[in-house]
Amino acid sequence: NPIPPAAARQKGVEALRAGHVGVMLVAGGQGTRLRFDHPKGMFPIGPVSGKSLFQIHCEKVLAASRRYGVRIPLYLMTSPETHDETVAYLAEQQRFGLSAEDLLIFCQGTMPAVDARTGKILLADRHHIALSPDGHGGMLAAFQRSGAMADARRRGIRHLFYFQIDNPLVHVCDPEFLGYHLASGSEFTSQVVRKQQPLEKVGNVVEVDGRLQVIEYSDLPDDVAARRNEDGSLAIWAGSIAVHGMALSFLERMVESAAGLPFHRAMKRVPHLDPQGNRIDPDQPNAIKFERFIFDLMPSAQPAAIVEVDPAEHFAPLKNAPGETHDTPESVKAQMAAEHRQWLRSAGFEAPDNVPVEISPLFALDAEEMASRMLARKPITEPTYFG
Ligand code: UD1
Repeated sequence: NPIPPAAARQKGVEALRAGHVGVMLVAGGQGTRLRFDHPKGMFPIGPVSGKSLFQIHCEKVLAASRRYGVRIPLYLMTSPETHDETVAYLAEQQRFGLSAEDLLIFCQGTMPAVDARTGKILLADRHHIALSPDGHGGMLAAFQRSGAMADARRRGIRHLFYFQIDNPLVHVCDPEFLGYHLASGSEFTSQVVRKQQPLEKVGNVVEVDGRLQVIEYSDLPDDVAARRNEDGSLAIWAGSIAVHGMALSFLERMVESAAGLPFHRAMKRVPHLDPQGNRIDPDQPNAIKFERFIFDLMPSAQPAAIVEVDPAEHFAPLKNAPGETHDTPESVKAQMAAEHRQWLRSAGFEAPDNVPVEISPLFALDAEEMASRMLARKPITEPTYFG
C-alpha cells in the first residue's frame, strides 16, 4: 500500500539526513558489447561536457551529501579486469571531489570458464586458468571480505542505494524511492519500468508463490513473455532497471547463505590454449562462464517490493557500441539532454529540441533545484553546460 509521494519523499529525506544511507555501485563488468577498451565507467558520456560515467556518479553522491548535510559513503565494486585502471583513474581525478574515506573500492571474485563442448576448465596461459568475474551477485561476498560491509555498519548505515555503472540517468539516493522502500518495511526494493515490448532486454519482476523474483530476459521463454491480459497489456510487465534499495541487516543475514545463490550460465568468447598449447582466439562464443546475480536475493527478502518509475527520467543504459540500434552512446546522450531540457523548460528557459544541454549534478540534481537557481532566462541557442 503506497504512501503519498510527498510523504515518501519526506521519509527518504529523513533517512538521508540521519546518515542511514550508503551507495553501492557495481562496475566489474567487462563491457564487451560497448567495445571500449577501458572500464565502462571511464566512457565519456556527458552530452556537452564529455564527463565520464564515473564523474557523473561521483558528483551525484557528492551533491546528495551536500544537500543532506551528511557523509554518504560510496562503495564501488570492481573486478580483476577493471580494478587497477579504475583505482588509478579515480586517484588521478581526485575522486571527483569525494573524500578518500568516503570512497571505498573493493574487488569482486572470479570463476573459471569451461569449454562449452567438453566442460573442461580452459587455460588462459600455461600457468593460469581462464577466470572471469563471478557476476554482480559476487558483490555480497566481496562486500564482506573486503571489510566494506563492516565499515557501513560502523558508520550507522542502514540501507544501501544500489545501481549499475551503465545508467547515467539514475537518481542516486532518490528520496522518494528510499521513502517507499522504508515505508513498506522492505528488505529489497527494485525500481521497475513498464515494458513496452515483450522481449525488452531487462530482468522481469514476477510473483511466484507469493514471493517476488527476477527472471532474466535470457531465461524467459518468448511465448511466456508475450502473454497478455484481457485489456491487451503485458502480463509480465515490470522490467527491472537494476536500481535497488537494500537493508544492510538483510545483506548481513544473507552473507552466510550467499554461497547458495545460483549460478547462471553465459556463453562467451574466451581466448585460451588448446591441449597442444596453441593460442586460440575464437570469433564465436566457445565457453561457459558462471555468474551470480544480486537480484536472486529478492525471494529471500521479508518482504520485497517494487517501485515503478518513468524510464524517460530514470533509465538510459549504455550497453552497445556507437551506430547500433539502441542503448548506444548517441541514444544515452540524447536521453540525458532531453531530461535536462525538461528541467530547463520547467525553470522558464526556452530550450529547443535540437540543441544539446547538460546540467552538472553539482549545479542541480533535479528540476526544482534548477528552478531555484538565480539565472537570466536567456533562450538557449547553442550547446550549453550548466556547471
Ligand atoms: C542488466 C540486468 C538486467 C537489467 C539491466 C538494466 C543482469 C544479469 N541483468 O542486464 O536484469 O534489466 O541490466 O540495464 O544483471 N557487473 C559486475 N560484475 C560482473 C558482471 C556485471 O559488476 O561480474 C556489473 C556491470 O559492471 C554492470 C552491471 O553489473 O554495471 C550489469 O551487467 P551487464 O552484464 O551489463 O547486464 P545486462 O545484461 O546489461
